Amino acid sequence: MPVVRNASTAAPAGQSAHSYVIAYTCMSNVRDWDGATYDRISGPMEGLGREVLARLELHGDELVLDAGCGSGRITQALIERLPRGRVIAVDQSASMVDAAKQRLGPAADIRVVDLLELELEEPVDAILSTATFHWIADHASLFGRLRAALRPGGRLVAQCGGEGNITVLRGKVTPLLSREPYAEYFRDWRPPWNYAAPGQTRERLLSAGFTSAECWLAPAPREPEHPREFLSTIVLGPHVQQLPRELQEKFMDEVLEMLGEPVVVDYVRLNIDALA
Ligand SMILES: C[S@@+](CC[C@H](N)C(=O)[O-])C[C@H]1O[C@@H](n2cnc3c(N)ncnc32)[C@H](O)[C@@H]1O
Repeated sequence: MPVVRNASTAAPAGQSAHSYVIAYTCMSNVRDWDGATYDRISGPMEGLGREVLARLELHGDELVLDAGCGSGRITQALIERLPRGRVIAVDQSASMVDAAKQRLGPAADIRVVDLLELELEEPVDAILSTATFHWIADHASLFGRLRAALRPGGRLVAQCGGEGNITVLRGKVTPLLSREPYAEYFRDWRPPWNYAAPGQTRERLLSAGFTSAECWLAPAPREPEHPREFLSTIVLGPHVQQLPRELQEKFMDEVLEMLGEPVVVDYVRLNIDALA
């Protein structure tokens, strides 16, 4: 059910109040995404994702899995690299999968699947994953599932938030969580992200049966074009959804005032290149 905006707060220039409201829908838990909104505002994620895709060597005839495809922006770029190949795109969120189906039509086999329960009927040549693994707590199980989906010699090329991701941003926002009127909603709150380190990730990949694994961190700060929506929907979505609707706008007002301009999201990405 859509959130009712605070009537005293206008939609940002160039956006209708309706489109702005959508950013706050479907936030009952951290894994509940609004695919249409994500598709519209995820330009910074697409930029990062395209760099990851560029690392994946392809002949053009492979079968590739996009693990956590979201609304399909990167899936679309992947399909363009596979003129004689095929793409299976999976995501846990039905809303994201709907948006990806709208964007891609029959160009990919798109499915609602929890990666922790992934089972494909045929082995894939490669797996691409962008901005997804840090939403999954159990990396050991995740990597086991991905390894099982790959043919021997197949490749995993991935990027997600890594150790140190958004530390500066969170450092600025965290004091707000213990202030009124927000404190009672964050008393038992634990940050939901799994920002893993390269060393432990490499060990987990090898334990899951990958024969080699290279993992490294890279800072990737971004200045989102629509900071309010980008923060409330993606980066601080878990914070916003923790609050009752009548406090969400106020919280974002205070966050934005505190951050000042320009808003910089201090992304630190964990890159993974592994061989099955
Ligand atoms: C930030 S979006 C990234 C989407 C896309 N890969 C991109 O780069 O724009 C994170 C995605 O991970 C998906 N996700 C999180 N946990 C998942 C899980 N256990 N299984 C499948 N997808 C998951 C979410 O539903 C969401 O679509």
